Amino acid sequence: MSEMKPVDILAIESSCDETAAAVVRNGREVLSNVIYSQIDMHTVYGGVVPELASRAHIEKINPVVRQALKDAGKTLEEIDAIAVTSGPGLVGALLVGVAEAKAIAWAAKKPLIGVHHIEGHICANYIEHPELKSPYLGLVISGGHTHMFIAEEATKFKILGRTVDDAAGEAFDKVARAIGLGYPGGPKIDRIAKEGNPEAIPFPQAHVSGSEYDFSFSGLKSAVLNYLNHAEMKGETVNKADLAASFQKSVVDVLCSRAVSAAKAHGLKQVAIAGGVSANSALRAGMQAACDKAGLELFMPSPIYCTDNAVMIGAAAYFEYEKQHFAGWDLNAVPNLRLGEHS
Ligand code: KG4
Ligand code: ZN
Repeated sequence: MSEMKPVDILAIESSCDETAAAVVRNGREVLSNVIYSQIDMHTVYGGVVPELASRAHIEKINPVVRQALKDAGKTLEEIDAIAVTSGPGLVGALLVGVAEAKAIAWAAKKPLIGVHHIEGHICANYIEHPELKSPYLGLVISGGHTHMFIAEEATKFKILGRTVDDAAGEAFDKVARAIGLGYPGGPKIDRIAKEGNPEAIPFPQAHVSGSEYDFSFSGLKSAVLNYLNHAEMKGETVNKADLAASFQKSVVDVLCSRAVSAAKAHGLKQVAIAGGVSANSALRAGMQAACDKAGLELFMPSPIYCTDNAVMIGAAAYFEYEKQHFAGWDLNAVPNLRLGEHS
């Protein structure tokens, strides 16, 4: 049998506060994965400062790309295409990656592929789970997005519902800030919640009444802030671990129950979660239990592929490569790119 020549894609991600590059073979095999996180720099300010993010991307992008090629043992000549996140994200941050990818593609005479960041998150599941086959029920839960969808094909998504206000990750970050845990809130709430009682405080569920598959996290966030205000007025000390665990339970419960009911309603047997919040340990355990109970098969990326990385961009780009969907030199950063749209 003749071996097909593998497709090696150099992928770049710079949409928020991670400067990342990776070499991915055939959309699945990780030849390298380099992530430079700017978190320490932004922590001082309690959140991502866009201007600082852009500058740090500019400083790190060349060394990060060089390292990704070196770790993969590849020269640019051996790479088949250059992929980059073109949106959504912070415009200045995105522009650094897009300009870098264009320059490399131009100089090395390689095709250029623009990737949708959220599509990248979803494709993170394809890296480790070849058994995951469309159609399946998907949930992408990140710092800026919360979408429930049916993956009709690997990269064709029918949106069933979304958040009508804050994204789930945003709620984690805001609640963490309110109880003084700092940025980034998700992992900190995850950690402290392990010592708390999730039944301690009955917070409202984060759903939208009358809308089966939409989410609303701002009401839950307000309930947490009200709880804190009342406690302060009465001079009571708040058990942060209990509060974190109770808030987290409210988020996890709504995501699990809605995912399971949507999968059942649409006759889907597989469920996949993705995005930064899918690294949450309570969500992973809760979703596993809910899917086991309902007889559904659950897929989730390893935590390193849940949060921002370039491997997922290389995984998504492979589908574009197969269709020979290449970007022109006019590829631009599109900060508000919607799921299903390409720049
Ligand atoms: O997907 P991501 O890395 O970036 C975006 O595309 O937004 O998601 C970042 C979000 C942040 O809000 C962060 O607090 C949250 O994911 N996150 C978590 C955890 N790790 C990251 N939320 C809950 N638990 C975690 N372990
Ligand atoms: Zn992301």
